[in-house]
Amino acid sequence: MAVDCRSLCLLAAFYAAVISMVLSQDQNEFIFNGFSESSNLHLDGLAKIHPAGLLQLTNTSRTEKGHTFYRFPLKFNRSSNSAPSYSFSTCFVFAMVPQLPDHGGHGIAFVISPSMDFSQALGNDYLGLFNNSNNGNSTNHVLAVEFDTIRSPVFDDVDDNHVGIDVNGLKSNVSAPATYFAKEEGRNKTLKLISGDTMQVWIDYDEEEGLLNVTLAPITSLKPDWPLLSISIDLSEIFLDEMYVGFSAATGSSAASDHYILGWSFSKNGKAQSLEISELPQLPKHDGESKRPEGLVVILLVAVVVLVTISGAAYLFWRRKYGEVHEEWEREYGPQRFSYKILYQATRGFKEKQLLGSGGFGKVYRGTLPSSTAQIAVKRISHDSKQGMNQFVAEIVSMGRLRHRNLVQLLGYCRRKGELILVYDYMPNGSLDTFLFSNGRPLLTWSQRYRILRDVASALLYLHEEWEQVVLHRDVKASNVLLDSNLNGRLGDFGLARLHDHGAKPETTNLVGTIGYLAPELTRTGVASTSTDVFAFGAFLLEVACGRRPMEQWRQPEEVFLVEWITKCWKRGAIFYACDPRLEGNFPVEEMELVLKLGLLCSQSQPLARPSMRQVLQYLNGNTSLLDFSPENIENGMATSNNEAFSDFLTSFPSNSHSSTDSILNKGR
Ligand SMILES: *[C@@H]1O[C@H](CO)[C@@H](O)[C@H](O)[C@H]1NC(C)=O
Ligand SMILES: *[C@@H]1O[C@H](CO)[C@@H](O)[C@H](O)[C@H]1NC(C)=O
Ligand SMILES: *[C@@H]1O[C@H](CO)[C@@H](O)[C@H](O)[C@H]1NC(C)=O
Ligand SMILES: *[C@@H]1O[C@H](CO)[C@@H](O)[C@H](O)[C@H]1NC(C)=O
Ligand SMILES: *[C@@H]1O[C@H](CO)[C@@H](O)[C@H](O)[C@H]1NC(C)=O
Ligand SMILES: *[C@@H]1O[C@H](CO)[C@@H](O)[C@H](O)[C@H]1NC(C)=O
Ligand SMILES: *[C@@H]1O[C@H](CO)[C@@H](O)[C@H](O)[C@H]1NC(C)=O
Repeated sequence: MAVDCRSLCLLAAFYAAVISMVLSQDQNEFIFNGFSESSNLHLDGLAKIHPAGLLQLTNTSRTEKGHTFYRFPLKFNRSSNSAPSYSFSTCFVFAMVPQLPDHGGHGIAFVISPSMDFSQALGNDYLGLFNNSNNGNSTNHVLAVEFDTIRSPVFDDVDDNHVGIDVNGLKSNVSAPATYFAKEEGRNKTLKLISGDTMQVWIDYDEEEGLLNVTLAPITSLKPDWPLLSISIDLSEIFLDEMYVGFSAATGSSAASDHYILGWSFSKNGKAQSLEISELPQLPKHDGESKRPEGLVVILLVAVVVLVTISGAAYLFWRRKYGEVHEEWEREYGPQRFSYKILYQATRGFKEKQLLGSGGFGKVYRGTLPSSTAQIAVKRISHDSKQGMNQFVAEIVSMGRLRHRNLVQLLGYCRRKGELILVYDYMPNGSLDTFLFSNGRPLLTWSQRYRILRDVASALLYLHEEWEQVVLHRDVKASNVLLDSNLNGRLGDFGLARLHDHGAKPETTNLVGTIGYLAPELTRTGVASTSTDVFAFGAFLLEVACGRRPMEQWRQPEEVFLVEWITKCWKRGAIFYACDPRLEGNFPVEEMELVLKLGLLCSQSQPLARPSMRQVLQYLNGNTSLLDFSPENIENGMATSNNEAFSDFLTSFPSNSHSSTDSILNKGR
């Protein structure tokens, strides 16, 4: 009897094992309540499986990506007798843990794709799915559901916390801010994707209905009754015979998150099994919230009592050392506010050794945030005026929301008496002018310089046209362009010039900017505009091409002003004579010629004759070629980037012969 029971049990166990093997090999249905090395997954990039069962797609390294796919393809055989069904259902649990509170990127996507090879795809706003040449192409056959934490205006993103359904490209067919329908309250509630909290997603497609639904909820909720997104779509037009299913995640160049998947269930032609929430792996503990053993509590209490007694005395000392200015209006900027103490520790007490440089606005120190290994640059700006400070801080904080790979990311600020402190991403290679003008740093090749010019142009275009508001930089020049570890150009210090405006007495027009980069109308009226930024960018183009500043008084009289000098060389038929001699002629002449002429075009005294940053970038990218114009056109301030205006000009000045001695370019200098 006893023996029989045992063999029965063994038999049952054997069958259970066989059945579970068969189930786990069923290529149309699977469930992972946590992952393991034997999960039949294909991983690439930063993706890895933790021993505790967590699937991590990326860590917080910048501009990286990671993918995970179920190893076996889904099969949709169109040539078989019965037409395949494209219905599917899946649910998964994810978490995005930002590197700094409120400062994470870029996002996660659920993907169905004919290939598992995304080696050519880009990180950042491309989410590890596409690159700029295949984005949007119907030959991709890719369906993705994106959970995107950064607003990319180029892809028409609705905000920096949205879910979207993407077909073959990153411009979502439908998208919405991340919310879920909370049944008990009968209303939609916002979910913050980069809160670090775990959330569950359900994606369902029913072929007969032709509806693809995406539903999101916090891990503690059941599946809401209403999906967040629902579109009618025919997947048979998108899918090929074999499709792989999985996830992609990417980090940004200025903000990054740890991207995790905790569990995943999938079913083709049926409803996906529900995940066992209690069985899912735990997220790693964040820094600073590690639990202390209970025995320590008593000791801590004693310590607290002791501390309280000495803290009275310490307070006065502390206030001198770490005291800050907080005002009521700053409350809403909480997340962007750094405590002075943290910054003090990060920079080892603002030691001279940490000093990176000191510029017009104040001293800049290098630091490492105590809670992470993130390197930062801390800029201390002394500021006497209280007046206008709240408006300025509001602007600075809103600029912290600017995201572009060619901008130096502003992470936050801190305020002390008479002082404003700004925290930026650290740029290991320092500023461009040290490469251009100081000896001892390696010479930048022409291709490096050209790339930096395009980087800065695309950053300025973003500020001028692609963000919610027009942002004027007001101080474009080589020393405000910083180089990251890959020598990409990043524009820094945007908007800081405003600080001087605010500090100024209303009756005086306090001009900010740097001589040689100031457009003549700016010196006259004091009003900055996108055209005054373009003027400064023109001076910057010439500065980089010629390896010298716009105005160098120690030179021969005819060489003092760079614009005049280039125009003179050009008139003599030797425009290349003006370019940086250290390049020793190692550059494609068309590119050098383009940069010099474009620099002149931007430097014209007539604001309307200057191109827009969009046009400038088109020229630099070779999408549009520069119109032919002569040095005389430039001297008359009449060369133009606009076809019609230019031909009008040619007809009204057919001979184009008068060269004015009082060049308009000289005016305002
Ligand atoms: C991320 O993972 C990669 C590869 O495992 C590693 O080289 C890198 O140091 C990690 N970065 C961080 C910030 O942990
Ligand atoms: C698709 O179906 C046809 C007809 O049933 C069959 O001959 C063919 O081998 C199938 N292809 C695949 C890849 O299964
Ligand atoms: C973009 O990705 C596609 C597909 O992986 C690849 O064939 C192509 O070479 C990539 N293009 C660039 C510019 O990286
Ligand atoms: C789409 O990709 C195919 C092949 O990859 C290419 O031939 C075609 O030109 C691309 N179409 C567009 C609009 O880029
Ligand atoms: C999608 O959501 C709609 C309600 O918006 C519902 O009627 C439909 O049945 C859902 N379809 C699937 C496949 O879940
Ligand atoms: C909640 O959001 C869904 C999807 O965005 C929308 O269809 C619905 O009308 C919203 N419901 C309420 C009560 O706001
Ligand atoms: C989704 O968007 C792509 C590109 O914008 C477009 O080609 C496609 O037709 C759209 N599909 C649906 C179902 O709207």
